[in-house]
Parts: sequence; structure tokens; C-alpha cells
Amino acid sequence: MRKVFKWLGIVLAALIVIVALTALAGYVISERRINKTYTIADEALTLPTDAASLAEGQRLATMRGCSDCHAPDFGGKVFINDPMLGSISTANLTGGEGSATANYTVADWERAIRHGIRPDGRGLLVMPSYEYAGLSDEQVAQMIAYLQTVEPVDRVAVEPRLQPLARALFLLGQLPLLPAEAVDHSAAHVASVPAEASVRYGAYLSTTCTGCHHPDLAGGPTPGSAPGDPLAANLTPAGNLVNWTLDDFRNTLRNGVTPEGKVLDPAIMPWPIAAQMTDVELEALWLYLQSLPPSQPAG
Ligand code: HEC
Ligand code: HEC
Repeated sequence: MRKVFKWLGIVLAALIVIVALTALAGYVISERRINKTYTIADEALTLPTDAASLAEGQRLATMRGCSDCHAPDFGGKVFINDPMLGSISTANLTGGEGSATANYTVADWERAIRHGIRPDGRGLLVMPSYEYAGLSDEQVAQMIAYLQTVEPVDRVAVEPRLQPLARALFLLGQLPLLPAEAVDHSAAHVASVPAEASVRYGAYLSTTCTGCHHPDLAGGPTPGSAPGDPLAANLTPAGNLVNWTLDDFRNTLRNGVTPEGKVLDPAIMPWPIAAQMTDVELEALWLYLQSLPPSQPAG
């Protein structure tokens, strides 16, 4: 009997050592990835100063979700605060106390938005630059110009804290913690993209939707959702939209109610963002969705 206990003790001790070593390795590997530095050359963007461009920058900063995450006043907010995952705040993008961008050059803004990289070369946490990497020079410049004019807000973000579960999910590829890793930093940027009712412009706009509806737009679980949360809908011709017209699509995204009478909760499906799109933009997006191969959610 005593022997059995001794062996059990040894097995238990070995298990504890293995778990501790795995946690330590996970910490070291995730820290190394988080602290990796990138060197991205300055991009020479010229900021517009006319009122129409600033208004367009404001519309884009809403439509592309910046104000959703960085708060409507752009002063930043608590983004994740979960005892299991940790806490991450979005940055204060205004010139007030706690500003992350007060000393930014235009090139720093561009690196943060299109590359997901902070001025010291490290990747920003969670800031979804893979959705913005393809934005045109013109639109990025309009957004920066607008953001430089917003009212200063005094709000100091708390330092990010990552619990072991967040690091484990990150290492398993289940949490897009470091978007800089998913950006092709050497890709050329286009100067401008014509705003026209075309599949091409629809594809350009669709990066606002792929974060939740998945790159193939076939839907599935949204990032950070719990089991039982609503799945993002299948927007390809294999989904419900096959029964809709362009008008149905526009009305749904403008009013948050589907032709079937389903009321979309803006906290789950952020239709007020899409409501910022022009008629032409919604038509382009519709044409793009129609052009997709009918597919089912993966896994
Ligand atoms: C999904 C939420 C989310 C969206 C959408 C988002 N951001 Fe961020 N952003 C963050 C988080 C979180 C941080 C802080 C990251 C960190 O501290 O590591 C951040 C950081 C930044 C920074 C860097 C500040 C610094 O610390 O140096 C800039 C600039 C920025 N965001 C601009 C934008 C702009 C412009 C948009 C829209 C085109 C945008 N963000 C959209 C979450 C978001
Ligand atoms: C933050 C995650 C998120 C983003 C971003 C998002 N969606 Fe959704 N969307 C959802 C979820 C989740 C549902 C399912 C809602 C439900 O079942 O109540 C949904 C539902 C929809 C529906 C209703 C489909 C149906 O059959 O009833 C449409 C249309 C839609 N989304 C289009 C879009 C478009 C277009 C974009 C980009 C402009 C977009 N969504 C961006 C999460 C998102």
C-alpha cells in the first residue's frame, strides 16, 4: 500500500512539474512573440485639410469600426476585462491626458493602422490591422486628418494584462492577439480605390465584415464568443441572403431588421456601422457577396 502511495506521489509531482514547465514555456514563447519588433519604413502620406475630406475621414472612422472599439469620443475604453483572459484597453487616440498618439508622426499613424505596429516597433494587441492593411492611401490619410481634429479626452488606459488562458488560446491560434503577424508588411498600397458599384469595391469594403463572418463570409462563431452565442450568418449564396434583393440588403443594414422580421442586436451584429455606407457602397458589397462561391461554415 505504502508503495502505491509513493508512486502516486511521484506521478503527481511529475505532473505538476510538467504543467508548470508548459505554463512557463507558454509564457516565454508568447512574450517573445509579443515583444518581437518590426522595422517598417515611413510611408509619405499627405494629409488633406479640406472640410469634405475631414468629414469623409469621420465617416470612415465610424464605418471601419474605430469608434466602436476606441469609444465614440475616441478616448479609448476597456475592451476585454475577463478574469480568465485578462484585460486589454483600446488606446486614447485624442490629444488629451493619457493620449497614445499625442507624439505620433503621420508615419506612426500609418504604421499603427495598416501594419498594427506601435512606434517602438512592437505589435499592437488586438488592433485589427489585417482589416485595414488594404486601405487606400487616400482613405487612411482622410482618417488620420480627421482623428487629429477630435476634441481632447482625458482618459488613461490601464496596462494590458494577459492571463495564461489568453496566452494558450493565442498560441493555439484561437485568439487574434497580435494582428501584426497576419499582415503582409511588404504589400504595396493603392493610392485610391474608385467608389463604384463593383465587385472589386465590394471586396475592398468586405474586410469590415470578415472579422466576424469569416474570410469566406460563410459565417460561424465570432471571435471571443461563448458557446451558445449567435453565430455570424452565412452571407454567401448558400445562406439566407439568396432570398433577398439588393433593397432587402440595404434596408437590413440601414434599419437592423431583416426581411424575415428578425431584429438584429447592434451589440452582436454592428449594423449601425454598415448604415454609414453609401448606396453605392452597399450595392458594391451586395455584388461582391453575390459573386462568392456558395459555401458552408468550416468545421
Ligand atoms: C477590435 C477593436 C479595435 C478596432 C476596430 C480598432 N482598434 Fe485601434 N486599437 C485597439 C486596441 C485594443 C489598441 C491597443 C493595443 C495595445 O495597447 O497593444 C489599439 C491601438 C490603436 C492605435 C495605437 C495607439 C498606441 O498605443 O500607440 C492606433 C493609432 C489605433 N488603434 C487606431 C485605430 C483606428 C484609426 C481604427 C479604425 C481604422 C482602429 N484603431 C480600430 C483596438 C481596435
Ligand atoms: C462583430 C461581429 C460582426 C460584424 C463585424 C458583422 N457582422 Fe453581420 N452578423 C453578425 C452576427 C453574430 C449575425 C447573426 C445575428 C443573429 O443571428 O442574431 C450577423 C448577421 C448578419 C446579417 C443577417 C443575415 C440573416 O440571414 O439574417 C447580415 C445581412 C449581416 N450580418 C451582414 C453583415 C455585413 C455586410 C457586415 C460588414 C459590413 C457585417 N455583417 C459585419 C456579426 C457581425
